[in-house]
Amino acid sequence: MRLLVSGGAGYIGSHMCKLLAENGHEVGVVDNFSTGYRQAVRWGKLYQGDIRSAEFLDEVFEDFNPEGVLHFAAKSQVGESLVAPAEYFSNNVVGTLSLLEHVRKRPGCLFVFSSTAAIFGNPQTPLIDEQHPRNPINPYGRTKLSIEYALQDYFTAYAMPSISFRYFNAAGADPSGAIGEAHDPETHLIPLILESVLGRGGGLKIFGDDYDTPDGTCIRDYIHVNDLCAAHLAGIRYLQRNPGAHFYNLGNGNGFSVRQVLSVAEQVVGQRIPAEVCPRRAGDPASLVAQSVRARKDLGWTLQFPAIEDIISTAWRWHRSGKFSRRVADALNVAE
Ligand code: UFG
Repeated sequence: MRLLVSGGAGYIGSHMCKLLAENGHEVGVVDNFSTGYRQAVRWGKLYQGDIRSAEFLDEVFEDFNPEGVLHFAAKSQVGESLVAPAEYFSNNVVGTLSLLEHVRKRPGCLFVFSSTAAIFGNPQTPLIDEQHPRNPINPYGRTKLSIEYALQDYFTAYAMPSISFRYFNAAGADPSGAIGEAHDPETHLIPLILESVLGRGGGLKIFGDDYDTPDGTCIRDYIHVNDLCAAHLAGIRYLQRNPGAHFYNLGNGNGFSVRQVLSVAEQVVGQRIPAEVCPRRAGDPASLVAQSVRARKDLGWTLQFPAIEDIISTAWRWHRSGKFSRRVADALNVAE
């Protein structure tokens, strides 16, 4: 199939492009390089531009003629969304609606949407399944939930088939070491732990050890980026046979506390990793763990990297390579 990947220069999008190409699909990448990296675009034709521009998308759709769109391009930092909601609504809602205007006018064109566990807000049950109330507590979650609602309405009105995947904590890197996570600034736990081992990015902080969890630190469900992408591939096949506006939670189903992640990272890197306990970070729920049974059942999705050790090991290979550093990335962006 001809599949267009928005945000294909980003962390999850670049892993998706690799998997699609390996499975024989023709890939087109749309990215404005606001947070993505040129050197991560290796599997597909690049269209550089912003999805909020209708003229730009006219050209892309005319040239690439996609049969499906996988939409990863978005702002995705919870903390940033609290202080800059306008940017979040503009990128994540206005941008996505602009893309949907093009998708809905192409009969049969599939749409796969990157949603988030942040649509649920503070969990009411230990495991979060698809029926859990959606009550986001920050603008980031609200922008993603707005699009989930739009997708339901677009299927009803325009028969536009879609799947929304609510990611829990995406982590790890492709085992090849060719691509990985490289946010700037980095806010995620596993990259920050590994950065601290490499002496980059300052000391590691544990945000709160007074939560109502066994060791007092927050529990999250870490899911390997390639396992997330495998669900998208399975989702495309499912959508072809079952048109609708579907939604699935994607997680490992196992929660790990910040201290547990740190301890596994110490085993992976083979050294003690110092960390300072700091006050809680605003907006962090104590625990977020997915119930992903529905995706396994409907999509036939299985995990290739269920073990947290493997998730951290693949991330470590990538970080150790030094390819992630902003300085290197900027040089490569400028060079091309
Ligand atoms: N943490 C630390 N120290 C750090 C960074 C993080 O202790 O330096 C803790 C956080 O407090 C949290 C856990 O590690 O308890 C994981 O934090 P991340 O920032 O790695 O990930 P989040 O769970 O905050 O965010 C993820 C996704 C978001 C999504 C959110 C849903 O990355 O896109 O889950 O709540 F919105």
